[in-house]
Amino acid sequence: MRATATTDAAAHTSADTVVVGLVEGEGVPHDVDDGALRALVDAGEAKARFKHLAVAHAAGKRWVLVGLGERERLDDERLRVAAALALGRARELGARVLCWELPHKLRDGHPARAVVEGTVMAAYRFAGFKRRDGHDDPEEDGLQELIVSDHEDRGDAVARAVVVAEAVNAARDLQNTPANLMTPTTLAERARALEGVEVEVVDRAGIEALGMGAFAAVAQGSEQEPALLVLRYEPAGAHGPVLGLVGKAVTFDSGGISLKPGQKMADMKYDMSGGAAVVEAVGAIARLGLPVRVIGVVGATENLPSGRSVKPGDVVTAKNGLTIEVNNTDAEGRLVLADCLAHAVDLGAERLVDVATLTGGVVVALGSTYAGLMANDDAWADEVVGAATEAGELLWRLPLHEEYADLVKGTVADLNNAPEGRKASSIVGGEFLVRFAGDVPWAHLDIAGTAWDVGRPYAAKGGCGVMVRTLVALAERAAAG
Ligand code: BES
Ligand code: MN
Ligand code: ZN
Repeated sequence: MRATATTDAAAHTSADTVVVGLVEGEGVPHDVDDGALRALVDAGEAKARFKHLAVAHAAGKRWVLVGLGERERLDDERLRVAAALALGRARELGARVLCWELPHKLRDGHPARAVVEGTVMAAYRFAGFKRRDGHDDPEEDGLQELIVSDHEDRGDAVARAVVVAEAVNAARDLQNTPANLMTPTTLAERARALEGVEVEVVDRAGIEALGMGAFAAVAQGSEQEPALLVLRYEPAGAHGPVLGLVGKAVTFDSGGISLKPGQKMADMKYDMSGGAAVVEAVGAIARLGLPVRVIGVVGATENLPSGRSVKPGDVVTAKNGLTIEVNNTDAEGRLVLADCLAHAVDLGAERLVDVATLTGGVVVALGSTYAGLMANDDAWADEVVGAATEAGELLWRLPLHEEYADLVKGTVADLNNAPEGRKASSIVGGEFLVRFAGDVPWAHLDIAGTAWDVGRPYAAKGGCGVMVRTLVALAERAAAG
């Protein structure tokens, strides 16, 4: 979708449909000549109540009036939601060129960004595999252009938001593609297609040769070639610390020998969501040309049972020399990430963030609203939370503690990957991973609950590209010094 900014009034743009946001107690900002919009408000058909929608036809255009609620509560998230709902109605009306008239007196470029993000994310549809029946669906062609009208020029904010929202949608495509088509090899192809990013793909033999015994153990049960993806974006004139972004990309998690129950196993194609977020975020950072160095490390493999699979009780050695008892082959994410984190440290990462659908526990604890955050450094945790907040994604910090640390100790090896009983299972995942971050400030984002079917108006079903926006915001902050 094309998106542009204008300082012209919405009525004077080429749009066939205009969205006007109504703030409680503030009337219609720019009415049409005959006062048709105001009349709709007076008649009680259009309301400023948050999420309320009304439609008018006036001055040769369609008008969608969307309620934004009270001004004090009007944040970026409400604008994203309003934009998504307005797009839904505009689509039904067959809109091709949509102009969003931003409410007056809003700060900086963030509201423009939010409207673009909400619209572009809401416009996303996974192409799917259904046979077309020949009938043209008028909604199918969709919106061609979005224009954001404001009194100030929001061109930069709009351009940035399109890049980020398209990266989010690209991550959703990766998540939604079934596991037979989204293998480690296809994910690697996607990474290689990113412009401005140098990509190295390490195969099974290479993973073993690097000493990544934990990652290799997960991959050994599958016929699919695993892939260690190393993405490098190192522009001239970069400043700030080297960011290491690490992603879990288990393209299908059956649980392995510790096989999962069949119910909902099909959803385990989205166990690569962390890797998808890292790949697309690095792509967006490069497209935006941010002056920051980024190393992305993504561990891609299937987790399947076979005659070659890693077995409960097996002991493996990770890249940093720690030995691990594999008590449960379904706790595979931490095995993959352990080696990827150690690799990112070895490659020179100075700040680490890993993104992973790591535990069912975080789904129970925080649902689809907050992702879990664990960290070994308070300042870095605050920085990551700050970036997420700015990006409109929610993180809730969970503690690490010596008593939890006891739970990850092994009987015959240094560590075990899955203590009995699943006490504090999300935290235990973090306690395990912190041992592979060395002395580098590290944050772990457990997105098992926030990656799929989150039910937001701009991303209701399937993958939602979670953490792409946060990782880009983090890079922007690092670039800003
Ligand atoms: N991929 C799963 C976690 C998951 C659960 C993601 C639900 C999305 C939705 C992960 O590999 C896993 O199986 N974790 C186990 C760990 C346990 C065996 C210690 C879990 O959380 O049950
Ligand atoms: Mn698992
Ligand atoms: Zn998994």
